[in-house]
Amino acid sequence: MSTTETTAGITTELPQSLLATLPGHYYTDPGIFALEQAKIFEESWFCAVRGADLPSPGAFQTVQVGRESVLIARGRDGALNAFLNVCRHRGARLCTAESGAVKRSFQCPYHAWTYGLDGKLIAAPNLTGMPDIDRTEYGLTRVHLREWLGYAWVCLADRPPSFADTVMADVSGRLGGPGEIDAYRIDELGLGQRIEYDVRANWKQIIENFMECYHCATIHPELTEVLPEFADGFAAQYYVGHGAEFGEGVQGFTVDGSAGADRLPGVGEHQDRRYYAITVRPQVFVNLVPDHVILHRMFPLAPDRTLVQCDWLYLPEVLESGRDLSRSIELFDRVNQQDFDACERCQLTMDSRAYANGGVLVPSEHHIGEFHDWVRAKIDAPDR
Ligand code: FES
Ligand code: FE
Repeated sequence: MSTTETTAGITTELPQSLLATLPGHYYTDPGIFALEQAKIFEESWFCAVRGADLPSPGAFQTVQVGRESVLIARGRDGALNAFLNVCRHRGARLCTAESGAVKRSFQCPYHAWTYGLDGKLIAAPNLTGMPDIDRTEYGLTRVHLREWLGYAWVCLADRPPSFADTVMADVSGRLGGPGEIDAYRIDELGLGQRIEYDVRANWKQIIENFMECYHCATIHPELTEVLPEFADGFAAQYYVGHGAEFGEGVQGFTVDGSAGADRLPGVGEHQDRRYYAITVRPQVFVNLVPDHVILHRMFPLAPDRTLVQCDWLYLPEVLESGRDLSRSIELFDRVNQQDFDACERCQLTMDSRAYANGGVLVPSEHHIGEFHDWVRAKIDAPDR
């Protein structure tokens, strides 16, 4: 037996095989969610938009990051910029649309302060009558932005954490080496499909579920046909550098095991016929298979609600060929629905007295304990 003290200060006796989970209120308490927004989502690199979704100068998207709305726009020089979506005059929300395109500026609908695509204040009614106003002081508030894997990652912190030590380290730590992901050349792939899932569950449920495969035999019949080792309950994420191997006779990562598209040109022999899953904390999953990549971005909106945008990415020439990718897309769409149904099923009970002290992790789930430690360390950390 081992003695475990829960966050709530309750001491429980657990057999060695089991580890304690977070208590139920971590998934429902608005106070915990507010701490997560402030100390996790607003302090980490957050994968916000896909660069190709903003193809030309003036194209923009607004994205919820923690408690803030962030405006991301492509500038006249072709680079992406990110700003807090707040007018510097009296604070009106500048853009209310989720996406769109402007010609050369953003104009606040309230008193018409006007900002360039680079965020600079370029005009305001009667501004010439206020010669003491330095326009450069009243531009939009900038947010750090970094592009990687074809996506714009933003960070609201004044001093962002090292991108290499957080985002890239999560990827290379999982794949067993820093260059492993480069083989898939994700930033050169095109969008074959995007599906948005409105999941009635806490964002941590979705991460925990993704990290384990104890559930695979029960809820993922199609996936375990393609990846038979998943039926044993050990997720690819249980081992560093391990990709789950396709079953004998499986031709591709498709809903019925039929052939997918051709192997991506950079994918090596050791990566062929294998599936790799990566969690990039706090809100991204990357799934690598030989002929495509599936990337999930989560947008936590409430303690019990998370939007998930899932992108299926293929070689541009595969997309141009008009090839039928429906069986390829259907496999992970089914997996997603199966997973999110399970997350919603758990979310329903998080406030039950039966789960007040949480549940337990079996050995094939023990690595989820590290995620719980990470969450606790973040939200318990003193303000920066
Ligand atoms: Fe935006 Fe006044 S609040 S111009
Ligand atoms: Fe699953």
